[in-house]
Amino acid sequence: MLTIGHRGAMGYAPENTLLSVRKAIELGADCVEVDVYLVGKTLVVIHDPTLDRTTDGKGKLDSHSFAELRALDAGQGQQIPTLQEVIDVTKGKVGLNVELKGAGTACACVKLVNTLVEAEKQQILLSSFLMGELAVVSQLDVSLNIGVLASKNIDDSFVWAGRLKAFSIHLNERSVTPRLIERAHFEGLKLYVYTVNGFKDIERMKNMGVDGVFSNYPDRVLAACSD
Ligand code: G3P
Ligand code: MG
Repeated sequence: MLTIGHRGAMGYAPENTLLSVRKAIELGADCVEVDVYLVGKTLVVIHDPTLDRTTDGKGKLDSHSFAELRALDAGQGQQIPTLQEVIDVTKGKVGLNVELKGAGTACACVKLVNTLVEAEKQQILLSSFLMGELAVVSQLDVSLNIGVLASKNIDDSFVWAGRLKAFSIHLNERSVTPRLIERAHFEGLKLYVYTVNGFKDIERMKNMGVDGVFSNYPDRVLAACSD
């Protein structure tokens, strides 16, 4: 079972910061997940479209310039990172799952990922709840790994995964069942589950046979996997 650090290792460090990404790597995660929005021409790593919850700034992300965003504290003195910075930290060490949160992220992300060599590109998984963004990824570069974040209608998500020739389908931990795992595998998809933090839940996912879990505590997943 793959250990995917959620927003880095947000159980231990401010989410979606380089500190959090480095913590996930230090703990031994196989892969790190971060969320991105496009601000001007730059992909920035943050979960919300507003600044209030995770930084000392206020208001909407898109009503600030990149320079203004970089002046903010995203926790423990960390800046809001760029996706380029996260790639520089993860490249050659762990996989990177980039969750496309906003409009225009697909195009910018494909451009950035295409500056990497083939082996590095294959370490990257682009996922989203926004099927329009994933469709752009697949149109621009069919070789990139796509992850479909399942909506409430899981059947629709499987249809999208087939249409986009996705690598994986990502389900909420409340919706995963043995039958859905079987279906994903039958359709040639990896099934990843978010966000699994409790020891018992991690064990349950492992016993059900999911392919990977997103966790705020990657060390807990690794401990369960070494049992
Ligand atoms: O990509 C898995 C998970 O991160 C999706 O939900 O809200 O944490 O971005 P969220
Ligand atoms: Mg996410």
